Amino acid sequence: MDLLKVSKTRYTTKAYDPSKKIPQEQFEKLLQVLRLAPSSINIQPWHFFIAEDAAAKQRIAKALTEQYAYNAPKVLDSSHTILFCTKVDITEDHLDQLLAQDESAGRFKGDAAKEAQKNTRIGYVNYYKNEKGDIGRWAENQTFIALGQMLLAAGLEGIDATPIGGFNEEVISQEFGLKEKGLIPSVLLTFGYRSENDFNAKLPKSRLKEEQIFTKI
Ligand SMILES: Cc1cc2nc3c(=O)[nH]c(=O)nc-3n(C[C@H](O)[C@H](O)[C@H](O)COP(=O)(O)O)c2cc1C
Repeated sequence: MDLLKVSKTRYTTKAYDPSKKIPQEQFEKLLQVLRLAPSSINIQPWHFFIAEDAAAKQRIAKALTEQYAYNAPKVLDSSHTILFCTKVDITEDHLDQLLAQDESAGRFKGDAAKEAQKNTRIGYVNYYKNEKGDIGRWAENQTFIALGQMLLAAGLEGIDATPIGGFNEEVISQEFGLKEKGLIPSVLLTFGYRSENDFNAKLPKSRLKEEQIFTKI
């Protein structure tokens, strides 16, 4: 499907048909897109919790009460829900894993190239840690690139989706032991197929005008 058409027709689904499931193969394809998401210096500072069965979705819905209760049915009636998490600190262990992965993928012609890559990463990480002083923000920005990529991918595959930032961070962190894992919860993303009663499917898109957001220089 045409990219612009998908951008115009994909929308935030507010109500799902709980009887409809995404074919496994197609969902696996979405996960591959997620894995291939780009990130600054290929830092991949993320971890994703994938919920498919009712019990797993219930665990996520524990964080969707009180002011976030309006988001609970989206998760519970979805076909699949993904919790996007971010590594709050970039550890030496994480950097080692990346380097080992780059090497096994065959990206280094020799030791000098490997050393250069290692030093570039360490340089950027130290810059965000020390000079900018907010490496968590930089790391989480990368996770949201993955979110954007998945929203478009779902649209291209004819799958409805909902990004959800409204959830209780403390509850979800406890439920999945995120602190112990060095993770923070960034965003939820539900997938499935819209219910006939989804009011949002019938509303027109609303975006600021071109002249408000573009400056041609
Ligand atoms: C990071 C992020 C968090 C969002 N959180 C919620 C949410 O908690 N609940 C919800 O119903 N929609 C949520 N949305 C959907 C936005 O309201 C929606 O994307 C925006 O209004 C544009 O509409 P569209 O996606 O239909 O084009 C979120 C979107 C993003 C990108």
